[in-house]
Amino acid sequence: MKNATLPLLVSLPLLTTLAFAVPSGPVPTGSAIIPKPVLLQEKLGEPGFCLEQGIRIAPGAMASAAACILQNAGIKTQINDKNPELSFVVDRSLAKEAYKLKVTPQAISIAASSKEGILYGLRSLSQSITKDDQGKKCFPTMEIDDKPRFAWRGLHMDSARHMLSVKDIKSVIDLLARYKFNVLHWHLTDDQGWRIEIKKYPKLTEVGSIRQQSATFGNRNKPDGKPYGGYYTQEEIKDVVKFAAQRGITVVPEIEVPGHAAAAITAYPEFGNKDIPNYKPEVIWRYGVFPYLFSPTEETFKFLDGVFAEVAALFPDSPYIHIGGDEAPKDQWKASPTAQKIMKEQGLKNEHELQSYFVKRVEQIVNKYNKRIIGWDEIQEGGLSPTATMMVWRDWKWAKHAIERGNDVIMTPTSHLYLDYGQGPGAPNKPEYEVIGGHIPLEKVYSLNPVPEGLTKEQEKHILGCQGNVWSEYIPDLVKYQYVVFPRAIALAEVAWTPQELKNEQDFKNRLNKHLPYLDSLKVNYRRPDNGAPAQPDAVINTEAPKK
Ligand code: ACM
Repeated sequence: MKNATLPLLVSLPLLTTLAFAVPSGPVPTGSAIIPKPVLLQEKLGEPGFCLEQGIRIAPGAMASAAACILQNAGIKTQINDKNPELSFVVDRSLAKEAYKLKVTPQAISIAASSKEGILYGLRSLSQSITKDDQGKKCFPTMEIDDKPRFAWRGLHMDSARHMLSVKDIKSVIDLLARYKFNVLHWHLTDDQGWRIEIKKYPKLTEVGSIRQQSATFGNRNKPDGKPYGGYYTQEEIKDVVKFAAQRGITVVPEIEVPGHAAAAITAYPEFGNKDIPNYKPEVIWRYGVFPYLFSPTEETFKFLDGVFAEVAALFPDSPYIHIGGDEAPKDQWKASPTAQKIMKEQGLKNEHELQSYFVKRVEQIVNKYNKRIIGWDEIQEGGLSPTATMMVWRDWKWAKHAIERGNDVIMTPTSHLYLDYGQGPGAPNKPEYEVIGGHIPLEKVYSLNPVPEGLTKEQEKHILGCQGNVWSEYIPDLVKYQYVVFPRAIALAEVAWTPQELKNEQDFKNRLNKHLPYLDSLKVNYRRPDNGAPAQPDAVINTEAPKK
């Protein structure tokens, strides 16, 4: 992942000069940092850093990011080179995302070798606010030495089935950054809608972003009769990517091939299997797996070249483009004389090998634009490209399969990390609270060790990390997104960051309880861990597409 771009672009209120720090009273209770740091030593019962007067921050590249993070935590700040109390140290001996944080009653320092490391130190600091024996705000005197277990700590967002406004996406990114996630996987195309503007192919959004109706909440086989549409302009995408980068998060786009392509093929039917009987693509309102595949012709690859050229340029920070590859039934390729002819010409034995050929052709396009591909675990069918990264969602055996061939993997198993699955009792008995199915409570997410058994230490290095997937068939807006994602994503943050041997469910839950008032202050509609109810009972789930 590339370095975050900083400083944050915020206008800071000018404060009158803050008085010089005086120590707090003795600090009885410690911090409740999530994800739990590798090493945390707090001096409880001793004075800490008093926050009554705010903090003077040393000027420099990280100063405004620091001010922004601390102000959001309710702390007064001032950037001032006279006797700064919070300072930053470049320590090249530290690993890329590692940081060291030291708090004394007089001063705070954060050392790191990268901007990300400094940001993580600031995140830990902002979560450490506690109270001294007089009830006054302070940080405990402490030292932290910390780094992530995995380099990929991701959350997924499916904007094809339902889309959030840019403002709402930014609010999700802000929460991800708080918990040291570093990837937002943005699923932008599917059978139910194409959501990214491509200037060379305007019909992708003019036609492909609109479905004539959607499934009815509470009765998924009944169409609701209401058109649903919308897409993100290139300017909006750039805005989201920049906002995320400033917070240390890389946005990785997903453009689905060869399946989940009905919306694209409705817009440009010439790139589907147009020689099959009864060919009539349309943007689909139902949810599930559908037969519309891109046809494997040179014309299709030329079209995809045009699409990926624009996508690559819109996501400059991401080394990857996700190309989907999942759930591509082969019926249309079997029925298409053109697809069969291409199979013969290319010496391919079956349609699985044709899928592998298709993925490799797309990989060449993606590589031409200086990106690498990620694909769902079906990309091994018919032969796995040696340079692809596999996102494992079904059987864990596919992780071993890929790793034994030297490929990198990212673990997103349906067993633990499908955050659109049910999470237990407590949701209101209303159609909008419907879930796709399944049962993955908070504890199950927390229990995950995303490393398959039987790997050598060398092989384990091919596990880049893990990610929660949030398919949005039944998630029409932010209120519902928050209910399904939080607090399970907070458990996932600790799975992805904290060494397995330091994890402890009860300790995590105790710390999580101390985070709930912050989420409440932002009116986040998380699922209450005590009874499963929505935290914002009056928040209304809106099933309409967001208005521009
Ligand atoms: C998937 O859930 N189809 C990757």
